[in-house]
Amino acid sequence: MSNPEPQRTATRARARKAVIPAAGLGTRFAPATKAVPKELLPVVDVPALEFIVAEAAREGLDDVLIITARGKDAIEAHFDAAPDVENALEKKGDAGRLARVRRSTDLARLHYTRQREARGLGDAVAHAEGFAGNEPFAVLLGDDIIDERDVLLGKMLDVQAEKGGIVVGLIEVEGRAISLYGSIKPAGEVVDGVIPIETLIEKPKPEEALSNLAVIGRYVLPPEIFGALRRTELGKRGELELTDAMRTLGQDGVPIHGVVFSGRRYDTGDRQDYLRAVVRLAVEHPELGDDFSTWLVDFVRTIEATGGTDQ
Ligand code: UTP
Repeated sequence: MSNPEPQRTATRARARKAVIPAAGLGTRFAPATKAVPKELLPVVDVPALEFIVAEAAREGLDDVLIITARGKDAIEAHFDAAPDVENALEKKGDAGRLARVRRSTDLARLHYTRQREARGLGDAVAHAEGFAGNEPFAVLLGDDIIDERDVLLGKMLDVQAEKGGIVVGLIEVEGRAISLYGSIKPAGEVVDGVIPIETLIEKPKPEEALSNLAVIGRYVLPPEIFGALRRTELGKRGELELTDAMRTLGQDGVPIHGVVFSGRRYDTGDRQDYLRAVVRLAVEHPELGDDFSTWLVDFVRTIEATGGTDQ
């Protein structure tokens, strides 16, 4: 099937800015999220959001807008200098940890704006209009970690620069899991990990899914998305859905492509996935990994032997 690429949306410049929506309520992780933003929950000793800002910075997205909300001031504090902690570490002579404390301050040029109410991802992204201006920009969800050893965003930025329009990150999911994601209808085959998309819908019932390809928390969007968001009505969840605005742009003839990802990804807003992320990264941690792995292997043996956790 052909995929029209109107001249007006084609662009050769790779996006240079990133938007990280982090204003959601995090109800799946309550009560932990009553006072602590879920984006700051630690994955071993680094908050989830720092992994995401670092990913943007690695791809040359030096200007990063974080969408925050009431009760999420700790996000700004995390990326600010922390003289007391830094002085204490200096006195202790702990240079390694000091460097890691300072890392978050130097990662990127951070900007903040607040979403007044958690009215959905589309509404959060709409707050980035002034920041993005007339350029394409990346959106990285604040609770969706892509392992830094696996490539996704860089390829998405290249595809967007080449083909224009919208590019979304995709994973293959099994069975009913599609109802937790946006679902895409392909407009052709996967070639070199890239697939043209005809349309997409948000969180379908499993029987209404358009394929088993699910949209994950990485997008590269053209500035036309803001007009489309203004024309989009609230979805069935009562939220302004980014997926609905992307579908509108697709109907306008803007090309949509997906980059299929099969690497390591952790949705830290989901408790199971969060726990897996912590265990996996703890096993691989340069300081903790050896001891933790030894304990973990013993622990698993005990579970297998006793069917319980009496350790
Ligand atoms: P989620 O879909 O995980 O929603 O948002 P949520 O409300 O944060 O969490 P649950 O489902 O209640 O547990 C995906 C990303 O979009 C941001 C969130 O902060 C998260 O990083 N988001 C979501 C916003 O910034 N604003 C919103 O209105 C909704």
